Amino acid sequence: MTTDMLEVKPMTLRIGAEIFGVDLSKPLSNQQFEQIHDALMKHQVIFFRDQKMDHESHKALGRAFGDLVIHTGVKGLDDHPEVVAIHADENSKFVAGDNWHSDLTCNEIPPMGSILYLPIVPEVGGDTLFASMYAAYDALSDKMKDYLDGLTAVHDGEHVYRPITNDPDKRFPCSTHPVIRTHPVTGKKGIFVNSSYTTKIVGLGKDESDAILQFLYKHCMNSNFHVRFRWQPGSIAFWDNRCTQHQAIWDYFPQVRSGFRVTVAGEKPQ
Ligand code: SIN
Repeated sequence: MTTDMLEVKPMTLRIGAEIFGVDLSKPLSNQQFEQIHDALMKHQVIFFRDQKMDHESHKALGRAFGDLVIHTGVKGLDDHPEVVAIHADENSKFVAGDNWHSDLTCNEIPPMGSILYLPIVPEVGGDTLFASMYAAYDALSDKMKDYLDGLTAVHDGEHVYRPITNDPDKRFPCSTHPVIRTHPVTGKKGIFVNSSYTTKIVGLGKDESDAILQFLYKHCMNSNFHVRFRWQPGSIAFWDNRCTQHQAIWDYFPQVRSGFRVTVAGEKPQ
């Protein structure tokens, strides 16, 4: 009997695993899909090495996990609007994602997951940090958990994307989500505010809201909740935006780091 068993190697006890034994450019068998899905639910971000993807296989991989989302802040490729280029070189003035965030939480229905494929990486540097929002939530005191439970916060795309758009008429989404989110598959609770998109907690005065948000951002930066991924050419990272945040480190200027991302649809945060 043939099996499609994959090897899943955890990178820390809290977050992150590398997966070996699958060619993601080919359609996944049911067994492969289930193992990858289970690993994503358990480890929150999963990594693959030595992959060779074109845009069609990248989109097919994303579609195996849900509908693809058109990015609401950044234009996709002309022929593949669901695919966004992630590129930095000696002419770059900024890079995507170098502040801690979960993708597109400004959307009314933020994405479930994102799949980033990087065929070109710098000689050194250009790592991505991922933080477990389950671990961050679990480490809060019971009194703080009680206080945050039931609060909602505003997530705005305007200040994130306005500086990088040439279209003065473009409007960016702004949405309100629970501060503590229950994951729809695992049932676990996680912190769901981030310093890129979240602007205020509803119902609190500005000083109070700023203080609570700053506390939460600082709390989430505790490296006990993190995994750091060192890219190689052909690596793929697939993260669950519902329970993680990430930050791309831009420490390789003027070298080139280049690839593509697809984003998989999620559900309204509860
Ligand atoms: C992103 O936020 O999607 C970019 C992550 C990265 O470039 O590592």
